[in-house]
Amino acid sequence: MAIIMAAGKGTRMKSKNSKLVQKIYGKEMVKRAVENAKKAGINDIVTVVGYKKEQVMQVLGDSVKYAVQEEMLGTGHAVMQAAKFLEGKKGRVLVLNGDVPILRPETINRLLDKSIDNKEAATLLTAIYDDPFGYGRIIRDEGGNIEGIVEEKDATEEQKEISEINAGIYCFDIEALLEALKEIKPNNSQGEYYLTDVIEIIGNKGLKTGAVIVEDNTEILGVNDRMQLQMVTKILQHRINSELMMSGVTIEDINSTYIYDDVKIGMDTVIHPNTTIKSDVEIGEDCEIGPNSYIREGCRIANKVKIGSFVEIKKAIIEEGTKVPHLSYMGDCEIGSGTNIGCGTITCNYDGLKKSKTIIGKDCFVGSNVNFVAPVKIGDNVLVAAGSTVTEDAPTDSLVIARERQTNKEGWNANK
Ligand code: UD1
Ligand code: MG
Repeated sequence: MAIIMAAGKGTRMKSKNSKLVQKIYGKEMVKRAVENAKKAGINDIVTVVGYKKEQVMQVLGDSVKYAVQEEMLGTGHAVMQAAKFLEGKKGRVLVLNGDVPILRPETINRLLDKSIDNKEAATLLTAIYDDPFGYGRIIRDEGGNIEGIVEEKDATEEQKEISEINAGIYCFDIEALLEALKEIKPNNSQGEYYLTDVIEIIGNKGLKTGAVIVEDNTEILGVNDRMQLQMVTKILQHRINSELMMSGVTIEDINSTYIYDDVKIGMDTVIHPNTTIKSDVEIGEDCEIGPNSYIREGCRIANKVKIGSFVEIKKAIIEEGTKVPHLSYMGDCEIGSGTNIGCGTITCNYDGLKKSKTIIGKDCFVGSNVNFVAPVKIGDNVLVAAGSTVTEDAPTDSLVIARERQTNKEGWNANK
């Protein structure tokens, strides 16, 4: 079981909303924290909510249970609110900060495993930071045993020099945690009940405490302000992009390519710079995407497809070998294989009330600057003349011309 703390006000974010619902790549950070725990195999999750609780609850829905913290008196107080879910239970509980969004599930499991293997009553996740400012520092004795955690605001100048920091991710023996929570007091600079104080309390009882030092420092970054929000976004961007590259996708510029979670891209596909690909997108092998293109949710792109420059597509099913080379918006559409969509083509999918679909067959040639006013269906092997505004269905093998005929007035401009 896990407890996720998500009741804090998040003052440093300077927002009208709970900081826990700030999005990183389109997904709220508290949702990321919950998903990370679930991916680690923990399904019984209690989320402590308080400040703007309706926002957090709307994001998480019934994927978790809730404990309400009426007054935000600190992280220790937050965990106390979830105590009723722990009473009478044995075994271990994970406690996670809701504002640590890019933690790897494998790291959660390493923490859990070490806690079980070493029979520790409290196991912390820590990291060594060059700049530990703002985090709780880990106090160890000469033998390296953990004595406690001191917060930045309570630390002496000497303690501030300590580079090992508390990640805000813990594994506790349930009974030891419940006992220790009863003993914490708000006698610190912030007047709060610190969860971090239970480490020293547990240690003083002669129970074992320990730590797992993370290998990748970036995964435990806490998000308290908008600079940290940006840092975490950049780290996630590099993580996703490098995983795709390792699986055989060429990304020309790791820094300007934004690929959201769980996008599938096949081998030997090339992503050109300044391209954004949202979640719920699948792209096949040997495709070319971008530069400067935007692939939105619901797209299914087969092999050998080209989505060129300045193209936006949404809920588009595009079959093998088809090309949308430049400056198009193709939304709510199906395009058969081997079709060429001319520059500037647009699907007019929205009439102000509802969205409608455009269906284009295989082996079509669509000239430049064509508007498809949906709903509309074009057969296979159709040629649509450039500049057409297509409002009616067209059968297979036809030529579609839907534009004003040109008039030339000879000599009209000669004496101007
Ligand atoms: C906390 C740790 C610090 C650690 C850091 C890691 C404490 C006292 N300090 O500091 O040692 O280095 O995380 O990121 O725990 N929350 C509640 N109720 C409250 C207060 C906070 O639910 O009354 C929640 C917040 O919403 C947040 C989490 O607990 O998700 C951590 O609180 P935050 O105020 O961000 O603590 P830090 O100062 O970052
Ligand atoms: Mg924090």
